[in-house]
Amino acid sequence: MKLTRRTFVTGLAVTGATGLIAPSIFKEYAYAGRGNTVFNNKLAIPPELKGTLKNGVKVFDLNLQQGISQFWQGRNTPTAGINGAYLGPTIRVAKGDKIRLNVTNNLSETSTLHWHGVRLPAVMDGGPHQPILQGQTWVSEFDIRQVASTQWYHPHTHHRTAVQVYSGLAGLFYIDDDASNALDLPSEYGVDDIPVVIQDRAFAQDGSFRYGSGMHTKMMGMTGSYILVNGTLNAHFDVQKKLTRFRILNGSNARIYNLAFSDGRSFKQIASDGGLFEKPVEMQTLTLAPAERAEIVVAFAENDKAMLIHKPKGVMSKGGMSRGSSGMGKGMGMGMMEERGRSFGIMSIGARNIKSKLKPLPNSLVKVRRWSERDAVKTRIFALEMVMGMMNMMAGRTGVSINGKRMDMSRIDEKVKLNDIEIWEIENHSPMAHPFHVHNIQFQILDRNGQNPPLNEQGLKDTVLVQPSERVRIILQFEDYTDAQAPYMYHCHILEHEDAGMMGQFVVVDKV
Ligand code: C2O
Ligand code: CU
Ligand code: CU
Repeated sequence: MKLTRRTFVTGLAVTGATGLIAPSIFKEYAYAGRGNTVFNNKLAIPPELKGTLKNGVKVFDLNLQQGISQFWQGRNTPTAGINGAYLGPTIRVAKGDKIRLNVTNNLSETSTLHWHGVRLPAVMDGGPHQPILQGQTWVSEFDIRQVASTQWYHPHTHHRTAVQVYSGLAGLFYIDDDASNALDLPSEYGVDDIPVVIQDRAFAQDGSFRYGSGMHTKMMGMTGSYILVNGTLNAHFDVQKKLTRFRILNGSNARIYNLAFSDGRSFKQIASDGGLFEKPVEMQTLTLAPAERAEIVVAFAENDKAMLIHKPKGVMSKGGMSRGSSGMGKGMGMGMMEERGRSFGIMSIGARNIKSKLKPLPNSLVKVRRWSERDAVKTRIFALEMVMGMMNMMAGRTGVSINGKRMDMSRIDEKVKLNDIEIWEIENHSPMAHPFHVHNIQFQILDRNGQNPPLNEQGLKDTVLVQPSERVRIILQFEDYTDAQAPYMYHCHILEHEDAGMMGQFVVVDKV
């Protein structure tokens, strides 16, 4: 079936004229809490892609394509994926590898493929400056210079990122190294090392994805009330080992999750965006904003049942079931909805016929790279701003910006000198939280409003959630790949904000 650009767009039911499929997930979770679970679709595990070695280079062939998925029985959803109908394979490389990714665009519109969190030359980054026209192949070639971590990839097409990712274009990108291989961590892909890509979607009656086109979506970002995990709606996973590692990516356009288990069990976070921690961090809830990753290790006993849920901050969970407060969004200010909304289920987890013995997690993991504030030679300020309201809308002034500017592909906003250690101070002057992302590096969070970040934010990161009125300082250093012509991006990872221009460009140069 050949889909035209029109079907690619309308496949998402942009108009919103058709109704939503009922009941929403919020209701379904309530059912689940009574043991009458509807979370019975086997969790899909994306295939691993390890590349083919050709003359010392690991070669990967990736095909951006449109297809049909069936999230609902008997209803077809037009989607897009990489080497498949929805999402893409988990690319697996190791530190020191030379890799080549051949990306062919068989979509009905221009796209790109960006390697999020990966250290690489700007021309290989797959940002808006490396468009892949329909029918063309773009070759991205670089070597892996960073520690073991869970990265990912997605389109970064000028003004079209949100809708392309929403249609299904995204995948995981795992990096291995000797230090992580030497640790006794759950690491059997799909067995006790499980990818978990969380995305929310809205559906029209005919099964197609619904994508909002109004002012609300532009300002708040697109959210839907159904959760897909690895493209599985109402997903269920049966653990096979006593300790299971989940590598979680918030692959949603705009929704922020406060992850927890329905029975309140604790778990250990072992890694953030940029790699493993020095020590596992014991947690009961974990906030994950769009684009953030977390690796957690959870213990299960035979016959355990638990639901991975979103638990709004301040809402108590009891007896395997969380009841949210009031309805969502009613009469609440922006930015409040995530906090006040209801709990809902993301994935149910069962444990039957567990075979392994419980071997404890190592107490210490790896040495994490750190920078000291004293070594910083420069501070840059990034003010996140939003102009809202009816009056402004009528005057054409609404929108998102950074330092009062919107993305301009022909403007370089910042020039960073190679090897300089810098502090980037991100100030949120808007009423909603924004996940701020920097390409090409992993940084360290210095402080949040002058306070040390929580333990699980003391590792390497490439995306940091900045709350309203918050001031977050990060410290970073660019140690290779100077190019005065080709920029990298920094931006808000709410994809609708990125598309609306909440993004800037920087180059790394030998001399400023
Ligand atoms: Cu996830 Cu600019 O990217
Ligand atoms: Cu990125
Ligand atoms: Cu934003």
